[in-house]
Amino acid sequence: MNDNLLIREARPDDMRAILAFQQAAIAAVDPRVYTDAERRAWARTPAVGMAQIVADGRYLVADASGRLAGGAGWDTLPDPPDAAVVRAVFVDPAWHGRGLGATLVRAVEAAIAAAGRRRILVPAALNAVGFYERLGYAANEIGIVDLDGVDLRYRRMWKSAA
Ligand SMILES: CC(C)(COP(=O)(O)OP(=O)(O)OC[C@H]1O[C@@H](n2cnc3c(N)ncnc32)[C@H](O)[C@@H]1OP(=O)(O)O)[C@@H](O)C(=O)NCCC(=O)NCCS
Repeated sequence: MNDNLLIREARPDDMRAILAFQQAAIAAVDPRVYTDAERRAWARTPAVGMAQIVADGRYLVADASGRLAGGAGWDTLPDPPDAAVVRAVFVDPAWHGRGLGATLVRAVEAAIAAAGRRRILVPAALNAVGFYERLGYAANEIGIVDLDGVDLRYRRMWKSAA
């Protein structure tokens, strides 16, 4: 991966740049996995509750000399109480396939382990199931999220925190 990339905590004034790489990443998703209508609905709200995750200091971004190349975050889960959920993993398509997604997820996993959470859930977009399998997550059942009347399917995947 590029040495000029700095993985840092996101700030509230990063929100516009975060939305930009999230929407670019969604636009590049294979239309055979999610239809145009599904990707449009996803792009309108790439990640519910982003402002709060950033405010809580739980979103990491990859900063390439002032331009954001990607990000990933996490949140607590009420049930089971020892679990956490990985949120909003997105890499700008210009950076795909260079190890950045894996680097971001590993950094989030380290933060989750440091917070004392032992199990990690990822609600994985169907295009990203293979990516999470490479990172040691096991695929479980399909879930559905309603985005303004459009159903988006995802795969629930689990891993033990290190
Ligand atoms: C999924 C995503 C984050 C991957 O980011 P990336 O930086 O391209 O991934 P990396 O280069 O770190 O890939 C790590 C490994 O996973 C593999 N991989 C990456 N994307 C994959 C995919 N879609 N399916 C299967 N394997 C994949 C890579 O080949 C690499 O394997 P290696 O360890 O053998 O070299 C990125 O494609 C993206 O932003 N997609 C759109 C948004 C999205 O779906 N986010 C996930 C929401 S849950």
